[in-house]
Amino acid sequence: MKILIHQTKALATDCAASLIAARLNRQPDTVLGLATGGTMEMVYANLIARHRAGEVSFAQATSFNLDEYVGLPETHPCSYWHYMREKLFDHVDIDPGRAFLPHGDAPDAEAEAERYEAAIARAGDIGLQLLGLGLNGHIGFNEPTSSLSSLTRIKTLTRSTREANARYFDDPQDVPRLAITMGIGTILRAQEVVLLAYGAEKADVVARMIEGPVAAACPASALQMHRKVTVVLDEAAAGALELRDYYEQVHPRVGETSS
Ligand code: GLP
Repeated sequence: MKILIHQTKALATDCAASLIAARLNRQPDTVLGLATGGTMEMVYANLIARHRAGEVSFAQATSFNLDEYVGLPETHPCSYWHYMREKLFDHVDIDPGRAFLPHGDAPDAEAEAERYEAAIARAGDIGLQLLGLGLNGHIGFNEPTSSLSSLTRIKTLTRSTREANARYFDDPQDVPRLAITMGIGTILRAQEVVLLAYGAEKADVVARMIEGPVAAACPASALQMHRKVTVVLDEAAAGALELRDYYEQVHPRVGETSS
């Protein structure tokens, strides 16, 4: 794992966006794996600015989002379809016909999960996978005890995850109990992974992910098995890392520059 610790969220965000832009510039038809959540909003705003400045194009890219709530139609304001259109797709030149999320309102959610997994495989799997990190160590909606070789399927959300996502809903009771999520095995097939985590509240789980044992109790720890993972942190999220000096020795001055 490459651990990049930046002084601020803004610098960390710029670093992550530059990794994505560089990949698209190198390989315009990259298959992107996209994520949702508060952390990603900053990354997408940065990518939109780069697109407007003519620095990056999504025109030949394909994208697959990690997950979607079961039961929410694309038009629901809390659906991830809606989030992605609002935060990214409507503001860049991605082809809407090649920007995919699972359909949360599919009549048969299990069949939809299988179809989605097959579509990812047919596209040649993910080239660059962007990930956030749940407070309980989840990636996508792979909650603790998820199989580390799982494929896209239905997961029941934990209370902690429903509480963390309640801020997007009018009533906390409205947060769906189930989601369709890429599996950990699906994510591990990606050519490269860029994971972002910010803030002191993520410090403990960041340390478990990077320095703890590989364990289903912390699904993100499965990334230790992946060949090419970059973890982009702000200072606060790096606060509980025991080997922080080492990471900063390997990637010095990363906090002072944006690359
Ligand atoms: C949700 C998403 C995850 C995301 C997580 C963290 O649970 N399904 O993919 O990583 O939120 O979100 P935030 O960036 O808001 O902390």
